[in-house]
Parts: sequence; structure tokens; C-alpha cells
Amino acid sequence: MGAAITIRDFDPQRDWAEFVALNYRTFRDSVPADEPVNEAAFKQHHAWLVAHFAPNDPRKAKVFVAEVSGAYAGHVWVGNQTDFFTKRQDPWIFDLSVKPTCRRKGVALALHGKVEQWARQQGLTLLGLQVMAHNEAAQKLYEHLGYKARAISLKKTL
Ligand SMILES: CC(C)(COP(=O)(O)OP(=O)(O)OC[C@H]1O[C@@H](n2cnc3c(N)ncnc32)[C@H](O)[C@@H]1OP(=O)(O)O)[C@@H](O)C(=O)NCCC(=O)NCCS
Repeated sequence: MGAAITIRDFDPQRDWAEFVALNYRTFRDSVPADEPVNEAAFKQHHAWLVAHFAPNDPRKAKVFVAEVSGAYAGHVWVGNQTDFFTKRQDPWIFDLSVKPTCRRKGVALALHGKVEQWARQQGLTLLGLQVMAHNEAAQKLYEHLGYKARAISLKKTL
């Protein structure tokens, strides 16, 4: 039998520590391994990102939490991103993360299913996100979910 996955609304008071710890790991792992990082500055910037994009503010964000057998297993955080070219406000998945011990059980699919249903109910017609080139698991997940690449971000080391 598969894992008992439930999806519920984020409760900032109850979920804050789990949310921030998992989101921090995902954002930290998003920096490619060959790029130098000042850990203290990264921590400070992460705190700014969370304060600015405010997952705890329903005017700015929607967050769903997944539980497996009653314990926090992952989350999805959606906000808005300004399109560079058109200035359009696109609904944007800032983070979809599952704790390592709960992976490959369909938790990400369940979280995305919920957020897609929520987005449709809001009358939204697209969801965007960024995925890093080194993150093969996430690329496979988004391919599985029907996302198509819109941009390719390049860099050259000098
Ligand atoms: C990417 C991530 C969210 C996937 O979560 P998950 O709960 O393990 O994913 P699911 O079990 O729902 O997988 C659904 C499908 O995605 C694909 N997939 C997920 N993880 C994969 C992996 N490690 N390798 C290959 N395909 C993978 C598969 O097609 C999978 O279906 P299958 O298990 O039937 O083959 C998880 O690995 C994670 O939290 N990674 C760290 C955070 C992150 O990088 N988030 C994305 C950036 S925003």
C-alpha cells in the first residue's frame, strides 16, 4: 500500500520552523556546487527572501503542506513573479520541496495537484517556475507534470 499523504493549508504558527528549514535547504542546494557562497551572507539573504515574498501573507502567497502519516513531509509555495519583458505578474512556484525521507512516494505530485486545482479555482491560466540545470530530479518531475522550457539561462566562467 502507498504512503498516506494528506495535503492541507499552511499554518504559519505551527509550520514555520519546518517550512523555513526545508526551504533553506532547497534554496541553498539551488546554488551550483562550483559557485562560491558566503554562508553568512546567504543566510541573511534567505531571511530577506522569506520576509519579502512572505509565505505567511495570504495577499502575497499561497502555501500547501504535505503530511505523510501525520508528519510534515513537504510543501509548495506559490507567489508572483514579474515577467522581465512584459511586466506581467505570473503566478510562480518559488519552492516545491519534499523531505529526503519522504521522496519517491508521490508527495510532490500530490502537492502539485493541489496547487494546480487551487490555481484553476482562482481563474489562473498558467504556473511558472525556475529549475536549476543541476537539479535532475526536479527536471524529471516537471517534465512528468507537463511543464515546457521557456528560457535557458547561460553563464560562461572567465
Ligand atoms: C524534486 C522533488 C520535489 C520530487 O519530490 P518527490 O516527492 O520525490 O516526487 P514524486 O515522488 O511525486 O515523483 C513524481 C515523479 O517525478 C519524477 N521524479 C521525482 N524524483 C525523481 C528523481 N530523483 N529521479 C528521477 N525522476 C524523479 C518521476 O517521474 C516521478 O514519478 P515516479 O516515481 O513514478 O517515477 C524532491 O526530490 C525534492 O524535494 N528535491 C529537493 C527540492 C527541489 O529541488 N525542489 C525543486 C526545486 S523548486
